[in-house]
Amino acid sequence: MFEWNEIYSLEIDIIDKQHKKLFEIGRKLAKLAEEKENPNRLDEILDLINELTDYSVYHFNTEEALFEKYGYENTKVHKEIHEEFINYLKNIRFTEVLNDEDKFINEILKFIGVWILKHIKREDSKYKDFLISKLNE
Ligand SMILES: [Fe+2]
Ligand SMILES: [Fe+2]
Repeated sequence: MFEWNEIYSLEIDIIDKQHKKLFEIGRKLAKLAEEKENPNRLDEILDLINELTDYSVYHFNTEEALFEKYGYENTKVHKEIHEEFINYLKNIRFTEVLNDEDKFINEILKFIGVWILKHIKREDSKYKDFLISKLNE
């Protein structure tokens, strides 16, 4: 799920670099999810989710600064979508884990993976041509 593929490339270096970093954190999460015997698994997953949250804020700020700078028309909607993801990450409550820890972890992982892939393909790709033309002006 978190394997980088050139089909995700927006051909904007700084953005691709940051998207690759999101994938990298995703791979670490997927790896931890498999470590069923690891007694610290939940704590380590929580740390990684915090890392993902911080890095997502940083990445979204990069995109949004470019939108503002060049006057991207879809800025408002795109920002709202970013905000929803950050809210989702911040509201994950590990106290809700009772007896089905694996299911809980897998659901989170799936949501994050699908969100990132869909967001790049459906939303970020909408600004691709616009930003490339602005950055080359
Ligand atoms: Fe992005
Ligand atoms: Fe985005």
